[in-house]
Amino acid sequence: MNPRDSCVCMYLSSISGRLKDTLSLTHMAPPPGIAVTLLLLLALQSYGFLLSFASANVYIVYMGERKYGNPELVSESHHEILSYVFGSKEAARESILYTYKHGFSGFAAVLTPSQANHIADVPGVVRVIPHRFLDLHTTRSWNFLQVDSHFRNGVLSRCQSGVGSIIGVMDTGIWPESQSFRDEGMGDIPSRWRGICQEGERFNHSHCNRKIIGARWYIKGYEAEFGKIDTSDGFEFLSPRDASGHGTHTSSTAAGGFIENASFMGLASGLARGGAPSSWLAIYKVCWATGGCSSADILAAFDDAIFDGVDVLSASLGSPPPLASYVEDVVSIGSFHAVAKGISVVCSAGNSGPYSQTIINSAPWIFTVAASTIDRAFPTAISLGNNQTVVGQGLYTGMDVNKFYPLVYGQDIASVDADEDSAGSCELGTLNGTLANGKFVLCFQSLSQRSSTAAQRTVMSAGGAGLIFAQFPSKDVSLSSDSLPCVQIDFAIGTYILTYIGATRNPIVKLNPTKTLLEQQISPEVAFFSARGPNSVSPSVLKPDIAAPGVNILSSWSPAYSLLQHQPSPVIFKIESGTSMACPHISGIVALLKGIHPTWSPAAIKSALITTASLEDQYGQSIEAEGAPQKKADPFDYGGGHVNPNKAIAPGLIYDIETSDYIRFLCSMGYNNSAISAIAGASITCHKSTNVQVNLNLPSITIHELKERMTVSRTVTNVGPVNSIYIARVQTPAGVSVKVKPSALLFNSTAKRLEFKVVFRPLLKVAGRFSFGNLYWEDGFHVVRIPLTVRTVLDDFYAEA
Ligand SMILES: *[C@@H]1O[C@H](CO)[C@@H](O)[C@H](O)[C@H]1NC(C)=O
Ligand SMILES: *[C@@H]1O[C@H](CO)[C@@H](O)[C@H](O)[C@H]1NC(C)=O
Ligand SMILES: *[C@@H]1O[C@H](CO)[C@@H](O)[C@H](O)[C@H]1NC(C)=O
Ligand SMILES: *[C@@H]1O[C@H](CO)[C@@H](O)[C@H](O)[C@H]1NC(C)=O
Ligand SMILES: *[C@@H]1O[C@H](CO)[C@@H](O)[C@H](O)[C@H]1NC(C)=O
Ligand SMILES: *[C@@H]1O[C@H](CO)[C@@H](O)[C@H](O)[C@H]1NC(C)=O
Repeated sequence: MNPRDSCVCMYLSSISGRLKDTLSLTHMAPPPGIAVTLLLLLALQSYGFLLSFASANVYIVYMGERKYGNPELVSESHHEILSYVFGSKEAARESILYTYKHGFSGFAAVLTPSQANHIADVPGVVRVIPHRFLDLHTTRSWNFLQVDSHFRNGVLSRCQSGVGSIIGVMDTGIWPESQSFRDEGMGDIPSRWRGICQEGERFNHSHCNRKIIGARWYIKGYEAEFGKIDTSDGFEFLSPRDASGHGTHTSSTAAGGFIENASFMGLASGLARGGAPSSWLAIYKVCWATGGCSSADILAAFDDAIFDGVDVLSASLGSPPPLASYVEDVVSIGSFHAVAKGISVVCSAGNSGPYSQTIINSAPWIFTVAASTIDRAFPTAISLGNNQTVVGQGLYTGMDVNKFYPLVYGQDIASVDADEDSAGSCELGTLNGTLANGKFVLCFQSLSQRSSTAAQRTVMSAGGAGLIFAQFPSKDVSLSSDSLPCVQIDFAIGTYILTYIGATRNPIVKLNPTKTLLEQQISPEVAFFSARGPNSVSPSVLKPDIAAPGVNILSSWSPAYSLLQHQPSPVIFKIESGTSMACPHISGIVALLKGIHPTWSPAAIKSALITTASLEDQYGQSIEAEGAPQKKADPFDYGGGHVNPNKAIAPGLIYDIETSDYIRFLCSMGYNNSAISAIAGASITCHKSTNVQVNLNLPSITIHELKERMTVSRTVTNVGPVNSIYIARVQTPAGVSVKVKPSALLFNSTAKRLEFKVVFRPLLKVAGRFSFGNLYWEDGFHVVRIPLTVRTVLDDFYAEA
């Protein structure tokens, strides 16, 4: 056994030891769902328990655009490089996990750091990237379900429901028996499709059909880090089959067929369907129910998806900040190649909001999606012993409808060794089980206890009967568990209930079943958890791009966990919240648009959706963003605004971007010349030029440092009536002056693409904050709007002092 092997064995055994600890912990306190374990693992990861092992052994050796047409030659060249480093063909073959040979060239292998350094020097190797683990964007929630999507039908019928488009979903796999994936009425599999239906545990060819036309799974990177997944307990399947539910949820949101009378235990009932019910699905399982997704696996999935021929890729995953550079982040690299081949890549923005600069998946070629609320609410009445009723929200289906329970405040039943404040927010292990047993517990959100999730676990393990959780106003109810009655209230109601408890000898409480209320909640609003800009990698690229529904979404779910627990009725729909849920909404809409505009580039489709996005809620008022405090939403919350699919069909003008523009952009980022050449598949010499980033032809203009007069150019392509006249109109950001030249654009049969300049001038000599405006081009029929975001700065802030 060589030293490398023994090292691998050692850390694998220590990892599996930790995994066992984690599982037994959750067994002590029965989890409300499989995702409890998933989340616990993610939490451990964030404490560094797992991450400390995650960097040393798997490396991605990235070699850019492939050099040979024949994939076999490409993989031959990878083996040669490794043989050179290992000194033998056999050792090379053993170390290699994947060879990437379709969309681009490279491989993933188990290496020592010195071997990795060695390989970095081999000609043709662009970069050796230590492997990272990425998270699914459900971290805020583990109760899920979805209702019929709230888009109006117009776009569906006009786009024939996405006929002809193939959506690839990178996630935890799929539950193929879900009604969402029946193939009645689906067209035949297109002859251009080159994907496969990869078999595995409880998944064979019969599980693919004319809806799920391809399915693959990727585990080598994951297992190289964490050891073999034990599937004997039915907790996971070594196949495309989804054990956690997340992938089934996102796939059915993007392209699920129609299901009458879907509901989560009677709540949110109605017609369920995906955004593009007639699109085909191709499943790439890269994330595992035991927690996380490996970057080596993700890159392999990108490679295959490009080869297979998907039209749209939907990836509700990513690594948290600090972000890797665009030439090191696997989602950025994989999506660059996909976009260069005309495949739109749609990703979630992350769930670390409402804080500034938390946005992830921020490369300009990615379509980055923020989450918004919809017009559905789940009011839940709380009756107190003083004959008063207050209203919170939850997903309470009424286990003991008419029963009053004793009610206590967490702080009043603190365990002797616990801090009272921690007990007031029901932090883990702070409650006295004797005193909590059989009672409803009131707790208040605190800085160390941001979500009700841990509070639920605390109350459950203390034997409490239910939880009333006072928190910042948020519409997300998906965190309520199945097994513990839980209702969320705001601080004012929390304070009222606390007063009642203090003034009463035997305070009691009763929950009334949750109702589903439609159309009476102001919406959309940007969700509290949705990650915010500015972009921490390239501040002149506005992120997120757009907002779409991602709060309390009902969609299909994998029944694996409830089947495992022999629950009487398996959970096949769940309500879930996260930017993970927003992403597949956009993926579905992109598939619809591709159906009617098959020749449009990913940038053109993105432009159509961004320039037609809405800034108003259903009452015509400005969309707001949840936060502390709630405020009017700005482009750092929702990019161009809230998606408006029907308008995007005929946007009038588009801001298109070609691969060569992205390459110039990469040059301006200061990345290694040869790295960029390799990505481009041609020798590129980066030329020094100014303002490249701000001049990238995005459907937005973001100037994060305006010191003096600055001219920005954009080019628009007319996709509306051939002879059109567009007039510019500007809503000026505070503190600057904005001039558009020319102020009118005349399109005809020869003038289809026209350039214009926007001149910005600071009016104040002050280090300002970001201010926001809009540039509109209007022809009387179309309104083509892009957001303007400008911050004035002093020439030299330091010197001024
Ligand atoms: C495939 O799986 C289905 C359902 O589990 C089973 O009925 C069928 O026999 C399997 N087919 C093959 C060829 O193994
Ligand atoms: C819809 O489902 C509910 C409960 O799940 C059931 O009571 C009702 O009869 C169903 N309606 C139809 C039309 O199937
Ligand atoms: C609550 O209302 C009932 C019936 O209306 C009444 O009998 C009871 O005294 C009231 N209790 C309190 C605490 O006001
Ligand atoms: C819990 O409360 C009971 C009753 O007041 C008390 O006897 C016991 O010591 C407490 N235990 C802890 C761990 O606080
Ligand atoms: C790019 O990086 C490689 C290795 O890090 C180095 O050898 C090469 O000179 C760099 N190229 C440029 C143009 O900086
Ligand atoms: C289109 O417009 C341009 C510029 O206004 C003009 O030079 C050209 O002749 C026009 N072409 C046609 C076919 O009208």
